[in-house]
Amino acid sequence: MSKTKKIFITGTDTDCGKTICCKALLETAAALNLSTVVYKPIAAGCFNMAGQLCNADVLILKTHCSIPLHYREINPIAFKPSIAPHIAASIEKSSIDFDVMSKGLDHLETKNADFCFIEGAGGWRLPIGDSRFLSDWVIHQDLDVILVVDMKLGCLNHAILTYQAIIQDGLNVLAWIANSSVEQMPYYQHNLSSLSKVIKSPLLAEIKHLEAPLEANLSVLVDHDIFYTLLKRGQIQP
Ligand SMILES: Nc1ncnc2c1ncn2[C@@H]1O[C@H](COP(=O)(O)OP(=O)(O)OP(=O)(O)O)[C@@H](O)[C@H]1O
Ligand SMILES: [Mg+2]
Repeated sequence: MSKTKKIFITGTDTDCGKTICCKALLETAAALNLSTVVYKPIAAGCFNMAGQLCNADVLILKTHCSIPLHYREINPIAFKPSIAPHIAASIEKSSIDFDVMSKGLDHLETKNADFCFIEGAGGWRLPIGDSRFLSDWVIHQDLDVILVVDMKLGCLNHAILTYQAIIQDGLNVLAWIANSSVEQMPYYQHNLSSLSKVIKSPLLAEIKHLEAPLEANLSVLVDHDIFYTLLKRGQIQP
């Protein structure tokens, strides 16, 4: 059996900071001498690079994971337009295949990394066609989840709905991350405290708004004790 701890990273919306938070997790694992692979099973908004469709998020994740991976090992399903993936698939007259997604993940497990961080697409209930949702695949894989909350006006409703949906889907929210993709919101601490009362999982990191989050080492913003205890040992607080 693989030793790899697989964790699905979801968030309150598209552009909420999932990739930035994945980067923070990869940098924290590196700081703790733990090895990593990454997975972004579905990516829309791709461009042509050396004859293949590539996505900027995937290139960021590829650079920061510790085990070298080919692009397609990280991202098996890619669409050019920056639109909902199931709409992009229907325009191409194709569909999003769960088996492709699962086989790609099985393959990454053979790398025997300590962690596989899996970045979702959009938010938790992303439709992927034929009345299926990306969350159905996460349930099928029985993955633990980290919830990224974009700390801006409106986030309380988005975060609570997402958290409750994950729990109702029978999955564990291992931890959550407060990410400020925009300048820090007014009454940030009040909002953080309101969320902490509802979200029963620990707050793993507060990623403040940074000028250049891709250049900064974000591991300093992550609670290393929570990271190690909850994520590596897999101990989940009641
Ligand atoms: N803490 C932050 N400080 C500054 N900029 C941020 C921060 N978090 C996110 N951003 C910026 O916001 C944008 C969206 O972030 P990111 O790409 O991580 O979101 P995402 O949830 O991965 O989006 P997608 O749904 O497209 O995958 C990016 O330009 C990113 O650099
Ligand atoms: Mg992303």
